[in-house]
Amino acid sequence: MKEKINILLLGSGGRECAMAWKISQSPRLETLYVAPGNAAPYGERVSLDPMDFPAVKDFVEEKGIDMIVVGPENPLVAGIADFFEGSDVKVIGPGKEGARLEGSKEFAKEFMVRHAIPTARFMSVTEETLEQGMHFLESLKPPYVLKADGLAAGKGVIILDSLADAKDTLSDMLSGMFGSASATVVIEEFLSGIECSVFVVTDGEDYKLLPVAKDYKRVGEGDTGLNTGGMGAVSPVPFADEAFMQKVVDRIVEPTLAGLKAEGIKYKGFIFLGLINVEGEPQVIEYNVRMGDPETEVVMPRLKSDLVDLLEGVADETLSIKQVQEDERAAVTVMLTSGGYPGDYEKGKLMTLPAQTDVLRFHAGTKPGEGGAVLTAGGRVMALTAYGADIREAAAKALAEAERVDFDGKYFRHDISRDLQK
Ligand code: AMP
Ligand code: GLY
Repeated sequence: MKEKINILLLGSGGRECAMAWKISQSPRLETLYVAPGNAAPYGERVSLDPMDFPAVKDFVEEKGIDMIVVGPENPLVAGIADFFEGSDVKVIGPGKEGARLEGSKEFAKEFMVRHAIPTARFMSVTEETLEQGMHFLESLKPPYVLKADGLAAGKGVIILDSLADAKDTLSDMLSGMFGSASATVVIEEFLSGIECSVFVVTDGEDYKLLPVAKDYKRVGEGDTGLNTGGMGAVSPVPFADEAFMQKVVDRIVEPTLAGLKAEGIKYKGFIFLGLINVEGEPQVIEYNVRMGDPETEVVMPRLKSDLVDLLEGVADETLSIKQVQEDERAAVTVMLTSGGYPGDYEKGKLMTLPAQTDVLRFHAGTKPGEGGAVLTAGGRVMALTAYGADIREAAAKALAEAERVDFDGKYFRHDISRDLQK
């Protein structure tokens, strides 16, 4: 084993910033590069497109990169792990086949059926089977859940209250509402319950669970308004207690890993289980093949163990001897967003960053300005993560920091984690 390693982290959001913060603390790290990154102070920023695999390869060779950690799903679905297969660099993330768990909702649903993993009843529809799709919709109770099969930048799920709207939307989706991503549409039975995010890290043989989190997707307080990339997150999740997690492990985590093996899919990386608790019974809403954003902004702070050591366990298939220790404290992250997001918003606003307290600042849509200034550069701008003895205390600290950090048009939700506070 090399004494210290060089890591290239791909991505530019709050998730990658939280990973970069954690990786930077590792005694196993020589140099961390982040591509394309943002204005965050962790790692060296490299101007490189994660989807341009030959350019990534040139950089890997030039800098002697030992490990590539892939933040977002797109490079994985496009096959970055396969591209580097057989070379010296280790990629943390599944190959194209495994990435279909996220890249194709139809594949994911059929996989769950094959391996008896609990999930909502569904039917997968194309132009040719539209008629059957309409009948299936008629057989369901409202609301109606329609999902574009392919990647649609997190916007591919539409939930409708009326059957007529659901039928219209199904037709619209099939005729190109999300381009080729909705040439196939998965119609699902609606499940009612509270959601949580479970993160599994696997080397293809063994696995470890990371701290459980819950995110807040809607833009408005009380979970109202449009869906966003995520307005905040909390960890731990009180209802994901020992009994619930045992069901998750027995019915979902282990059958998923056994299913991948049985289908000959070598999977090394993260599996993000989007779960819903239906009267104490976990069901899978979706698989993702990466960490969640903004969940990572609470998961990394609650991970006591060395992340690089864990990732080396994934790469070298020695995860069984690694440890995952969790911080006892609760963590809450509040996302500062640009006014107008997820609709139109302005960028390039100068950020006011008062002297830092013990609240963590994970940059998302930021870019460096002149003379050390930080400018806004996206809808989700910065995730502020605080620890607390309990969720309430962590939330209060994160909110106080959300008042301090400032920029023109700043918006954030004041009720992140409130539903889980005692
Ligand atoms: P996804 O893009 O798959 O995460 O879906 C977006 C959101 O839609 C999820 O986080 C859930 O809140 C909701 N959703 C998806 N599928 C269902 C379902 N079958 N029943 C209820 N809500 C769902
Ligand atoms: N927070 C949900 C996601 O990353 O997809």
